[in-house]
Amino acid sequence: MGKKTEVFNAQIRVDKMKKPFRALKVTDNIFWVGAIDWGIRNFHGYATNRGTTYNAYLILANKVTLVDTVKAPFKDEMFSRIASVIDPEKISYIISNHSEMDHSGCLPETIKLTRPEKVLASSMGVKTLKEHFHYDYEIAAVKDGDRLSLGDMTVQFMETRMLHWPDSMFTYIPEREILFSQDAFGMHLATSQRFDDEIEWSILEEEQAKYFANILLPYTGFIRKLLDKISESGLKFKMILPDHGPIWRRNIEKVIGLYDKWSRQEPSKKAVIIFDTMWGSTAKMALSIADGLTEAGIDVKLMPLSSCHRSNVATELLDAGALVVGSPTINNNIFPTVADALVYLKGLRRKNLIGAAFGSYGWGGEAVKQINEWLGGMGVEVINDGLKLKYVPDEVSLVKCRELGALVAEKLVRKCNSSD
Ligand code: FEO
Repeated sequence: MGKKTEVFNAQIRVDKMKKPFRALKVTDNIFWVGAIDWGIRNFHGYATNRGTTYNAYLILANKVTLVDTVKAPFKDEMFSRIASVIDPEKISYIISNHSEMDHSGCLPETIKLTRPEKVLASSMGVKTLKEHFHYDYEIAAVKDGDRLSLGDMTVQFMETRMLHWPDSMFTYIPEREILFSQDAFGMHLATSQRFDDEIEWSILEEEQAKYFANILLPYTGFIRKLLDKISESGLKFKMILPDHGPIWRRNIEKVIGLYDKWSRQEPSKKAVIIFDTMWGSTAKMALSIADGLTEAGIDVKLMPLSSCHRSNVATELLDAGALVVGSPTINNNIFPTVADALVYLKGLRRKNLIGAAFGSYGWGGEAVKQINEWLGGMGVEVINDGLKLKYVPDEVSLVKCRELGALVAEKLVRKCNSSD
């Protein structure tokens, strides 16, 4: 890697008007140089209905520093944005806060093209990047609390292991109170606005909840420790710059408050009913169970899996207290869409749920027992053996469904009251 000691001079060899993409100024000497992926709708199994962004940031300090890169197909967009404010060869340092390929995909090529003095990552990041790209250049490992001078600014590193990968870390500029938080506080949201105060809060909250529920939920223990560490350290944030979605400059306390709330995983008087159906019988059961719950004052989300994506189910479960699962029996098994949702939810490890199973069947009726076993394996407190009904339920049978809904409600209210 070539040595670079020149101080940045924006006038040198940069004709920004000729660049198809432009950098966006975040604050003095800090620019957003990421990419907007308007069309993505499937992010490794997560339905990204509003697209996403891959945020990279350029710090125009004496040592020009790039924080993270973008997904490989978006390399030209990132380079164009960088080149709209500076010759990319003037980048001295590249910091990789997170090795996942939506942020590191074009890192090898960026290193090749810019030949920085240093590339820095956490010790796990060094290992993970090598295992992804099998390169032969050197990446320097930084530890929690390490500081690096950029000349007229400093960056400080904070390991955030398992948020949400072993390599994940934050980078902080103490002089400016600016945090580069990689995936944390991010969301999948493609917009032409780059700041939180330019976007409706209801959209931010919805997409932030979805991101938390689908990406961060398994690691809430680490989030609680991190929030404690931030609180004890007295670190202040004027801005939080995540790797996806808008930059936080107005709602910082609010979003940290949401992380605090969601990471506690406390139960609430809300039930999520998921099911699929072959000939409408399990659907009828679901409706009657929902009515029993509703009458008892429980907020119900009824989610037919033929039309509701697993990642939306995970989002609804984030602030729920009960998961009720229905499936017909098909060839001695759970219906495939129900199995898909259960596998996905098991990985997300939502805590403090009660649960119940139901379903219509013709002869074997194994699905209800299998759902209960699955719920048990997820750590859900299963309230009884479940309810299975033969073929098409009549009115008397549907009253039993209603009673199941009422029983779930009773147990849920008791659980919520005992945790108050
Ligand atoms: Fe946005 Fe974990 O990558």
